[in-house]
Amino acid sequence: MLSLARVFLIFITFLCFLSVQARLHKHTEGKHWLPTSLISLPPSPAPEAVSPSVNAPSVFNVKSFGAAGDGVSDDTQAFKMAWDTACQAEESGTLLVPDGHIFMVQSTIFTGPCKSGLTFQVDGTIVPPDGPDTWPRNSSKRQWLVFYRINGMSMQGAGLIDGRGEKWWNLPCKPHKGTNGTTLPGPCDSPVAIRFFMSSNVTVQGLKIKNSPQFHFRFDSCQNVLIDKLIIKSPALSPNTDGIHIENANNVNIYNSVISNGDDCVSIGAGCYNVNIQNITCGPSHGISIGSLGNHNSRACVSNITVTDSVIKHSDNGVRIKTWQGGAGSVSKVTFNNIHMDTVRNPIIIDQYYCLSKNCINQSTAVSVSHVSYSNIKGTYDVRSPPMRFACSDSVPCTNLTLSEVELLPSEGYILATPICWNAYGTMYTLTIPPVYCFLDGNPLKLPQDDVVRC
Ligand SMILES: *[C@@H]1O[C@H](CO)[C@@H](O)[C@H](O)[C@H]1NC(C)=O
Ligand SMILES: *[C@@H]1O[C@H](CO)[C@@H](O)[C@H](O)[C@H]1NC(C)=O
Ligand SMILES: *[C@@H]1O[C@H](CO)[C@@H](O)[C@H](O)[C@H]1NC(C)=O
Ligand SMILES: *[C@@H]1O[C@H](CO)[C@@H](O)[C@H](O)[C@H]1NC(C)=O
Ligand SMILES: *[C@@H]1O[C@H](CO)[C@@H](O)[C@H](O)[C@H]1NC(C)=O
Ligand SMILES: *[C@@H]1O[C@H](CO)[C@@H](O)[C@H](O)[C@H]1NC(C)=O
Ligand SMILES: *[C@@H]1O[C@H](CO)[C@@H](O)[C@H](O)[C@H]1NC(C)=O
Repeated sequence: MLSLARVFLIFITFLCFLSVQARLHKHTEGKHWLPTSLISLPPSPAPEAVSPSVNAPSVFNVKSFGAAGDGVSDDTQAFKMAWDTACQAEESGTLLVPDGHIFMVQSTIFTGPCKSGLTFQVDGTIVPPDGPDTWPRNSSKRQWLVFYRINGMSMQGAGLIDGRGEKWWNLPCKPHKGTNGTTLPGPCDSPVAIRFFMSSNVTVQGLKIKNSPQFHFRFDSCQNVLIDKLIIKSPALSPNTDGIHIENANNVNIYNSVISNGDDCVSIGAGCYNVNIQNITCGPSHGISIGSLGNHNSRACVSNITVTDSVIKHSDNGVRIKTWQGGAGSVSKVTFNNIHMDTVRNPIIIDQYYCLSKNCINQSTAVSVSHVSYSNIKGTYDVRSPPMRFACSDSVPCTNLTLSEVELLPSEGYILATPICWNAYGTMYTLTIPPVYCFLDGNPLKLPQDDVVRC
């Protein structure tokens, strides 16, 4: 009797599995596979969704799907169900995270493609479990809210995303957080707060996000991304809390945002091109970085990056290009224009000797750096470092660097520090402050081979 019931149960389970498989297969066109446990699945049936009226777009309020919003209850399933319902809606809908509530959501992958465009409206607060001890064992410690294979989504609202990162930052495997300032060996995975992966036509605007355990935003393998009017905030000493990190991304516009954090304000990794950053304020932070590139002898290609009309204050770096020795590929067509520096330690820096320990060996290849223009960059630098440093590779010189209207004064005292150049070919179009007399003229006799630079 018992075994018959069990056989029946197994049969039913198998049927469910088949139907889920079929739906999932259609859903993802069978191209990319993730463990089913991680994917939000369409619920059946959809409970109490506000029924779509003829003209108004549908609103899918997470509370209608059972979210408690008390900051303690686990609202993950409600978010998944709201997502799946909104995602399957024929007309573009809105997933609403309502004002006046705090929703606790665990590491979740919101999967597309959806049937039509979608708005993820955050008016309330979303938090993850509080720190590594309460993070569910079976969910990824490397990412929290993930949007995967989405085409056409706007994430917006007046709400807050609070990553509750403090307990992660203080793990003994983080730099100097072990006993007596030691760093215990890792793995030291900490979740990225919001990740868009393999997505396109994505807008993120108006949100506040704070205290991520690791990067606040990460866009990888994405295209057509618009980021506007974000406020990103975490303490100056929080490790690895980059504001916005992009890699393998193109046609990315980042506008009108204010970022203060413990690592790069914006970091641009390998495979990025056509990136435009305008009117952002960084600081305290580690500035705007291209890199680090070429780690473990990898090839990296980055081109057509523009940063304009921005402010960088009380930061370790201003605008930085950093590459490891031994890489291949190139960084080219980079424009830094109209940037105000306020007490920045390395306002303008190219570092082709990037190394996290002190004993990186010299290697004979590098990611080449060329056509970088710095114009109208003014303000003050922290006197502990020279305001301009072009430390280019021994084997692959930087070429076509240009400077105009660059005026950087010490934040204290009156003595101008001398800029540093190494193997840097460039031109000072107008007399800069301090002047850069250390550029090499013209073009190098020997240019790196095309097959090394080729992108
Ligand atoms: C983790 O396990 C819990 C309880 O067993 C389950 O409810 C949850 O769906 C699982 N999460 C993932 C991402 O597998
Ligand atoms: C930490 O430093 C104190 C004082 O120097 C010392 O007594 C103690 O043994 C150290 N602890 C460890 C784990 O090294
Ligand atoms: C993104 O949007 C544009 C314009 O709305 C559209 O032409 C394009 O096909 C979309 N991209 C993708 C990958 O669907
Ligand atoms: C620049 O961004 C700030 C912060 O979002 C905003 O207040 C300001 O209006 C923007 N400036 C322009 C010219 O758009
Ligand atoms: C450079 O990127 C911008 C967008 O930031 C784009 O409008 C422009 O066409 C790109 N230039 C080239 C040569 O691709
Ligand atoms: C690496 O190269 C630099 C610059 O040429 C030189 O000063 C340094 O001694 C070299 N280091 C090693 C470990 O060879
Ligand atoms: C800079 O780049 C241009 C165009 O790519 C090239 O013609 C020129 O020779 C390069 N060097 C200098 C010193 O301008």
